[in-house]
Order: sequence, then structure tokens, then C-alpha cells
Amino acid sequence: MPRQSPRIKAILPAKLDIPSAKIEAEIRDIGLDGAFFKALPLQFRDKVGLDTPVLVQYDLFGQGLFEHRGNIVRKDGLGYGVRFTGMDRLTKGRLWQFIADNLTDRECCPFCGERYGILPPVCTSCGWRLDFHPGYLDYHERTCLLNRVNGGLAQLDADQLQKVASFIDSDILKVNGSDDIDQFVGTGKVMLEVFANIRKVAPTDLTVLILGESGTGKELTAQAIHERSPRKDKPFVAINCAAIPDNLLEAELFGHEKGAFTGAHATKKGKFEYADSGTIFLDEIGDMPANLQAKLLRFLQDKIVERVGTVGGKKVNVRVIAATNRDLNGAIAEGKFRSDLYYRLDEFSIHLPPVRERGEDTVILAKYFLNKFSRESGLTKSFTKEAVDAINTYEWPGNVREIINKVRRSIVMAAGRYVTPTDLMLDTVKTGMETGAGDLSSAVAVLEKEKIKEVFKSCNYNISTAAKLLGVSRPTLYRRMKIYGIQ
Ligand SMILES: Nc1ncnc2c1ncn2[C@@H]1O[C@H](COP(=O)(O)OP(=O)(O)O)[C@@H](O)[C@H]1O
Ligand SMILES: [Mg+2]
Repeated sequence: MPRQSPRIKAILPAKLDIPSAKIEAEIRDIGLDGAFFKALPLQFRDKVGLDTPVLVQYDLFGQGLFEHRGNIVRKDGLGYGVRFTGMDRLTKGRLWQFIADNLTDRECCPFCGERYGILPPVCTSCGWRLDFHPGYLDYHERTCLLNRVNGGLAQLDADQLQKVASFIDSDILKVNGSDDIDQFVGTGKVMLEVFANIRKVAPTDLTVLILGESGTGKELTAQAIHERSPRKDKPFVAINCAAIPDNLLEAELFGHEKGAFTGAHATKKGKFEYADSGTIFLDEIGDMPANLQAKLLRFLQDKIVERVGTVGGKKVNVRVIAATNRDLNGAIAEGKFRSDLYYRLDEFSIHLPPVRERGEDTVILAKYFLNKFSRESGLTKSFTKEAVDAINTYEWPGNVREIINKVRRSIVMAAGRYVTPTDLMLDTVKTGMETGAGDLSSAVAVLEKEKIKEVFKSCNYNISTAAKLLGVSRPTLYRRMKIYGIQ
């Protein structure tokens, strides 16, 4: 096997500092990763065994004194192999200079020993580059690390590889650089598939159907797709079909002409027009009334927006992403959702698993939000072991949204540095007590939030006045508002 680091023959006086003695020694060959020492005098031989940590000191001609740590990794009749550890960059650079200077006149590849007349730029036998220019040290370090990582990866099974890939992905899949869109957290196999699907579908114009329980990250997924698509600098328009009364939804989506219906005092653009050249996110599509399902299907076929109160319309260029927490197949069977619309929307689908099926991701998510929110409030908090256990065993019916709410609240409730199951309101769940009612800290939180809201109302939402009335500073009040989600 070729060496990872070229060695040069050099006889150098050296000192080996071991815990019990300082030994005069002699280096026989040396490279960036280690050196070979001539056998030690008899009295020291049994003091220096494998893995003995040593401090190595030696003088490199013209390069001055060197001192760094090492480990004995090999011992035979001829001497000791020492692997260097903890060498700083400067030392490494100086040592490399010495090695490179003394390598130039060799005829053999210093890694694998292949013999050449003149060294080629790359060894044809082992593949190492042999042009020892000034940037070589960087190349060498990267290659050694890559080799090490690759060697490690080759021993992992598929699940373990997924974890590594997710670690890489979670950095790559930052939705965007700014703080206003949350980072997507996920390390389990299923979430990695979700990330892979987001990456796969984002650059296309395919219509995407996102399925999953409430709070599993459907909207976040839609945003992630948009942010990674060629439309990312164009509008992302979200509309929740369940939140708008049926009779107004059509006008919201398609717009209306002046006088189209009672209350239509002026012409109004619909969401599809606002989303032109961008992406529209139709949330809770499963709640869309039947007549509108037909109109939406027509729109998906020709992309022509017909405002309410007109015939004919305007062509728009929108990418459609839809989501629902409903079982659409069930809705189709019951005749509540059109199967032709379903197939049209389902050009590509992404299923978000509930949090209770994400294994250790639940704790990872909770820790992620604990760090995030405590940093935002200038605090440092961590979970007790009991809290981590409680997070693990709880079912999380509200998914990520519930994790966010419970963690946010726990930061206010936790008296000190540690967040307990009580702070998270997870102890009551386990003992079967009624959530909230029997728990003093949660009762206090409820009261506190109500009090803040009440005082706000009474002083016409003036922050200074509210802070004064409540007897707290403005920053404290801001912090509480943020924690309780009071706008
Ligand atoms: N995997 C995740 N990592 C980080 N935050 C997440 C994740 N999934 C969801 N969230 C956050 O949880 C909240 C609920 O997600 P959302 O996309 O609104 O869910 P849904 O649309 O499925 O109800 C949002 O604040 C979102 O940013
Ligand atoms: Mg949602």
C-alpha cells in the first residue's frame, strides 16, 4: 500500500520526552505524519510501549527546533514508529518545506516507490501528485482527509451512510441564508428522502402535492422547493383554502371585476395573478369546494386566469404546489374530491411523516429550537435527561408546530439553566393528569399571557405604557411577547 505521506531519509538527533524520562534518540526517516526512530538504549526499552504518548523534539538543519506531540505506533528490533499528532499549521509548513526540498532529486515516487527517470507530475502507479509546489501541502491534507473519510464511509451500512449524508445535506439544504425562513432539520432516512425529493423536483415546473399531518412542515417544504427553483426571485404566494369562506375563495384565487358580486366595489387581482412567474402554494387543498375544484382543474390545464365576472382571461405562468392533511383517496371515495384534479396535482408527491415516526429527529428538533429560541432571548438553556426522555416518549400529535410551541414556552418556565419535563408540560401527559390544569407553572404561563394581552388592549397596544403598567422593562416585555407569540 502506498504511504499517505512521503518520507525522507534523514539522520537527525532528537529527544523523546515520555512521562517518566527524557531520552536522547535519533530519527532515521521523517514525513509529515510521523518518523522512524533508531532503537533506544536498553534501559529505556521497556518504558516505551505501543501508544505511549511522547513529546518529540528535533533540530531540522536550517529550519530550527521542532517540538510537537506523537504516539508510538510500532516497535520492532530496529526501532520505533512514531505518529505525529497535534502539529500546528506553521510547524507543518516548515516541516513540509524541509521534506519537499529533500525530495526533489529522487527518482522514485515517494508514496509508492515506483521508479521513474524523472518524476512525472502525477504518479501513474498510486495517483498522488508529484509536483511539490507551494500549494501542495493543502492538496496533501485534503487528499489525506478524503481518503480517511472514504475509508470510514466504506465500512458503514446504508442507515449510517444516510446519517452522514443528512449531516451534509442539512447544511446544503438551508432554505436560504436569511433568518426569516427556518432551517429544515432532519436526519432520519425518511426525511433524507424528502430532502432528496425537494432537490429533485425544485428545478422543474412540475405540480407538487405535499401530504402530511398538520405541523409536519408542508409549507416549509413548499417554500424550500420555491427557494431552490429558477423562480426563487419571483413571488411565492401562499393561500390557505380552508381559512377562506367558500363563497370568497374563488375571488381570492382568480380575482374579480368591479360589480361582479355584492361588495365587489373595485376590480381586484387574484392570487394566481400575484404569483405570475412565481409559485402559488394552495394549502389545505382537500378543503376546496367542488365547484372551485372544477375551475382549478381548468386553470391547471390552460393556465388562464378568469376573474369572477368576466369571460375569457389572462394567461399566467405559475408553478402550483398544493398541500393537504386530508386523506385524499378517502375524500375521492366519498365523492368529496375530484379524482381528475388529484391526478393533475399529483405530478410529483412528497409525503411528510409525522414526527412520532421520525425517531431521534424528535429530540434533534427540540434541541434545535431550544438553542434557537434561547439564543434569541439571550439565554443558555439545555434539557435535563428526564426532559429528553419525555420528548422521546411523547406522541407529538401537533408535530413540529407543537414542538416549537412547547419548547418556546419551556424557556419562560424554566427557572434556571435546565429545562425539565414540567417546563415542557410533558410530565402531566405521562402521569395521565389533565394537561395544564394541575400544573402550576403552566397555569402561571396562561395567566401571564392573558394579563399581557389584557393590558395591551387597555392601553391601545402601546408598548411603553403596557410595560409601565405591568411593571417590567420594555425589553422584558418584548421577550415575553415573542415567547408567547403576541403580535
Ligand atoms: N423539519 C423541520 N425543521 C425545522 N422546522 C420545521 C420543520 N418542519 C416544520 N418546521 C416548522 O414547523 C412549523 C410548522 O410547519 P409548517 O410547514 O407550517 O407545517 P404544515 O404546513 O405541515 O402545517 C413552521 O414554523 C416550520 O417552519
Ligand atoms: Mg400549514
